[in-house]
Amino acid sequence: MANAYTTRKLSARYPTDLPAWKKLADHHKSDMRDSNLNDLFSRDKKRVDKFKLVAGDLNLDYSKIHLKNATLKLLSQLAKQADVPAAIEAMFAGQKINQTEERAVLHVALRAKIADGVAHDTLGITEVWEVLTKIESFVDDVQSGTIKGSTGKRLTDIVNIGIGGSDLGPVMASRALRPYWKEGMRFHAVSNVDGTQLDDLTAELDPETTLFVICSKTFTTQETMTNANAARAWVIERLDELAVQYHFVAASTNHEAMDAFGIRSDFRFGFWDWVGGRYSLWSAVGLSLALVVGMDVFRAVLAGGRRMDQHFHRAPLDENMPVLLAIIGIWYNNFFGAQSQAILPYTHRLDRFPAYLQQLQMESSGKSVRMDGKPVRCDTGMIIWGEAGNNAQHSFMQLMHQGTRFVPVDFILSSASDLATANCRAQAQALMEGTSEKALESYRVHAGNRPSNTIQFETLTPEVLGQLIALYEHKVFVEGVIWGINSFDQWGVELGKKLANA
Ligand code: F6P
Repeated sequence: MANAYTTRKLSARYPTDLPAWKKLADHHKSDMRDSNLNDLFSRDKKRVDKFKLVAGDLNLDYSKIHLKNATLKLLSQLAKQADVPAAIEAMFAGQKINQTEERAVLHVALRAKIADGVAHDTLGITEVWEVLTKIESFVDDVQSGTIKGSTGKRLTDIVNIGIGGSDLGPVMASRALRPYWKEGMRFHAVSNVDGTQLDDLTAELDPETTLFVICSKTFTTQETMTNANAARAWVIERLDELAVQYHFVAASTNHEAMDAFGIRSDFRFGFWDWVGGRYSLWSAVGLSLALVVGMDVFRAVLAGGRRMDQHFHRAPLDENMPVLLAIIGIWYNNFFGAQSQAILPYTHRLDRFPAYLQQLQMESSGKSVRMDGKPVRCDTGMIIWGEAGNNAQHSFMQLMHQGTRFVPVDFILSSASDLATANCRAQAQALMEGTSEKALESYRVHAGNRPSNTIQFETLTPEVLGQLIALYEHKVFVEGVIWGINSFDQWGVELGKKLANA
């Protein structure tokens, strides 16, 4: 069923034409451009209690953002006038909102329950649970030793061969969930094309206990197939041709290519064209992760994603965490002119989360043409970068405190460590407050007034990880709806691939 979002001819609705956008521009010019966070705090003692939100296990503190109630009201109006609610409905209903590829966008279906009615009128998503059940029995068989290597040994070293969304998700999540690895299981990943990663890895692996997971939606990506063929040659050389059937499984949609490679039909785990690469960890792309942490933990990640989906689908715009992150991002991007945003996780196990978010946000929002084919009239995706906290403090925080750049920060904090908590809070406070002593030499002055969000949770459990990933997936979606771009295609990566292949 079409709705205001899917039927809307986007050309009529440049965001800059929306009444709320014009009011925000005035509000910024007259009231907020020169505002100081410290003044906002001193004028309103309850500020820290006003500008916070809980969703699931996540606590968002957005009090160190240049906004007042009036700002929040206008930003929420902007989301409404840009048909964000209708867009959310369209996505959950399985409408083809990825218009240039004529596809639905249904990563939410990968973690939904039947009762949720996701995509109820477009596709039989029962096949999602069929694949999950198939993954579950495969994972259980590998971990129990029912499925063994070609020489009868237990498969303990799982090697994910993939790149982009077929690498970053499994790598990030396996590191985030290191305490959950099952006894004796080890996760490895190979992604780059120059062969050194695979060489370095096979030097320390025993082919008899190694299982390669070829992770590739298309099964044609040059880097992935180069590594997969090199790994195949290594297994043949060290074992024999027959061993290929025991030591390779695939997560892909391309059966023809899997036939050619020699993947056993029961060692193939499919997914669908309505799963975008950078939104695919929840699908068979998560197979390598599930093989290491076990299906119970993998299902807990899915449950976390579903919990954030339900919040995103139901919460009013100004109490909706993904919407808040999106409109705060637009506020700094399109009104304060921020060119980049830093992601600083203060738990080392999320050290690959900034890299994961780089693809999620920049491959989704790095667009300059709208869904109706016309050029955008405002900036779109920011540059996303970052590093695990404390390491960041001994690397680039000098620029953040005393440089000339304006870079909003998302701190992501697990309060499991007092030291990490103390350092994270200190950094957010120092960015905002700067130095107050009057007689300081100029080179010691910290200007302050530098904004940050803090997303805090108790400990990094599989459920929390699922919530965190889904939070940013939906933030990206909302930003794209407001800008009028398609966040789910990636034509900008085709040219490079074509030239490289030529
Ligand atoms: O970066 C381009 C891209 O298509 C990503 O969107 C995708 O995650 C990656 O390449 C890998 O693609 P595949 O899973 O088809 O190998």
